[in-house]
Amino acid sequence: MATTAPTGSPPSQPSLTHPPPPRKLTTVKALSESPGLSSIPSIYTFPKQPYHEPVSDTKEPIPTIDFSLLASSHPDERSETIRELGKACRDWGFFMVTNHGVPERMMKAIIEACREFFELPEEEKRGISGKHVLDPIRFGTSFNESVDEILCWRDYVKIFQHPEFHSPNKPPSFTEIALEYSKRVRLVAREIIRGISESLGLEKDYIDETLNLENGLQLIAANLYPPCPRPELAMGLPPHSDHGLLTLLIQNQIGGLQVQHKGKWVNIDPIPNSFLANIGDHIEILSNGKYKSVLHRAVVNNRDVRISIAVPHGPALDAIVSPASKLVEDVGNPPAYGAMKYKEYLELQQGTMLNGKSSLERIRKGV
Ligand code: OGA
Ligand code: NI
Repeated sequence: MATTAPTGSPPSQPSLTHPPPPRKLTTVKALSESPGLSSIPSIYTFPKQPYHEPVSDTKEPIPTIDFSLLASSHPDERSETIRELGKACRDWGFFMVTNHGVPERMMKAIIEACREFFELPEEEKRGISGKHVLDPIRFGTSFNESVDEILCWRDYVKIFQHPEFHSPNKPPSFTEIALEYSKRVRLVAREIIRGISESLGLEKDYIDETLNLENGLQLIAANLYPPCPRPELAMGLPPHSDHGLLTLLIQNQIGGLQVQHKGKWVNIDPIPNSFLANIGDHIEILSNGKYKSVLHRAVVNNRDVRISIAVPHGPALDAIVSPASKLVEDVGNPPAYGAMKYKEYLELQQGTMLNGKSSLERIRKGV
């Protein structure tokens, strides 16, 4: 089940025609555990220091969607919740999901399983990692080690869960926990995507069928943010939007996620036993810009290890995503985004430094 990749050192002969072999960087975990670390290497220093940008003091709470009402057989409850879901997608692009039916013990178990994975020896984690964005297991640091000019204070592991299930062999409980967790989370995500489809005035199953969600991509993307001695200089993850349709995120009750809302960064406090959901670039494309994927970032702190587990849900890798024809023709506005295969978009995003919504900008039609 686990994939293995050769661990040998890269060729020492530099080639004139090929890009240099990928760097293998020290993980942030190893760096943060260096004895007496009181500053950070300059490659981790972001020029725009995150804490100097205004953080909103808004009292406006992030929207909450009660999942049990979305799945309700009572038509009024369901249609009211779909209206709220549409408003949450339009106004924030982010919302909490409560009463989702995924047991709290499963959420805690997957966080612990990922924590144990990060505790494994570095060579073991590197040893199971593929190199390409479409490899089913990737472990690494920053966002894309081979192109990042400034490094993120973050290690990660990304594991494909669907359409094919993959899992590392260690820690021993990982496979069972991940299998159960990803199955349950996928059911929740698919139901929310049906609700989003309806909220756009499309058939309930429009997104599901057009983008072949039966074979849709689902990953576990676990992030480790070790304590940082100079958190005001570093970034866990710089501002970005997510690829795909819908990401469901949980975290170990240590805050750090900030969402851009009305031009300011808003701290999102962890709420136990709920998911933080956000819509991805492919909902923006499909909705022809009616719903926008929203910039978010992760800041770090100097006290606690933060772990977050994002589970992105996307179209099938071969699905071509373009604005829904009903949303283009009916309202008489032209398609604002070009059509692109989901898998090509992933390659596009992975090939550059994580930089705001630059990948989406590349397929937006000239304005
Ligand atoms: C991500 C992400 C935020 C966080 O993994 O795409 O935005 O809080 N993570 O870790
Ligand atoms: Ni993200």
